[in-house]
Amino acid sequence: MSIASEAIARRFGDGGPSGEGAEDNDLICRVLSRKTVRRYSDKMPADELLDLLVACALSASTKSDFQQASILRVRDAVKRAAIGALFPNMPWIGIAPVFFVFLGDARRLQRISEVRGKPVENGTLEGFFNASIDAALAMQTMILCAESAGLGVCPISVIRNEIDKVASVLGLPDLVFPVAGLCLGYPQGEGHVSLRLPRSVTTHSDGYDDGALGAGVDDYDRRRHALHAIPKEQHRSNAEFGEASFYGWSEDKARQAAKAEGAAFPPYLRAHGFSFD
Ligand SMILES: Cc1cc2nc3c(=O)[nH]c(=O)nc-3n(C[C@H](O)[C@H](O)[C@H](O)COP(=O)(O)O)c2cc1C
Repeated sequence: MSIASEAIARRFGDGGPSGEGAEDNDLICRVLSRKTVRRYSDKMPADELLDLLVACALSASTKSDFQQASILRVRDAVKRAAIGALFPNMPWIGIAPVFFVFLGDARRLQRISEVRGKPVENGTLEGFFNASIDAALAMQTMILCAESAGLGVCPISVIRNEIDKVASVLGLPDLVFPVAGLCLGYPQGEGHVSLRLPRSVTTHSDGYDDGALGAGVDDYDRRRHALHAIPKEQHRSNAEFGEASFYGWSEDKARQAAKAEGAAFPPYLRAHGFSFD
């Protein structure tokens, strides 16, 4: 078995294409085996490496070359602590050696347009969407480059749940919003590669067909449970939904999604320059 086909089997375990026979490529093998890291050693990544990673992130593709991602590094200990204190359930936010915030920045294009004397209104849904995607692509590019440099990372979208406070700490102006934070440091411990849904569920050929969803998810739940069962103390909302006879990934995600998150985000955006017209 090649390294890539072993990594594909570990990632999916779904009996789908194995990649056997294809050339082993270092980046591809790393991507197939990547994992989120939430515990870091005390070693601080060098500033030169971080500068390099920022350059990589800002080399990501960008819609229409509008370049609507901005990256903010939170260095100030007081600001880090203030943001960390908002999310006591995720202590890695306050203590990771490095914390970036990836911003969708619809403001810069509007300011440039004002300088150029053009009537650009970038608070539209299109402007929001383009800026969000640019920031997400920049973040994922940093993630893959950081991981290939031996670092571990964890994206942090929970900061949007307290968007008013986070924006105030970071001094974000209108038309600039966090897509996610990113904790970064050298990993402490091994962690594990997270099994993904079977490709029969997440891929389509020549037309959309989710006929395999039920059986595929059931099978996935069982395989994932056998590898890494969700500990009983992490089962959600038992008071509301009762104890599940089998608590797999889909039960967990359905319970999680039943409690809507991010209620503060739409009013924040509307109050800060986005009309979504
Ligand atoms: C946009 C985005 C936001 C995320 N936000 C958080 C977060 O707020 N807190 C956290 O601990 N993990 C967060 N994660 C990490 C996911 O939980 C993780 O990617 C997922 O469980 C799959 O694990 P893996 O990346 O190891 O495959 C986020 C990931 C993404 C892509």
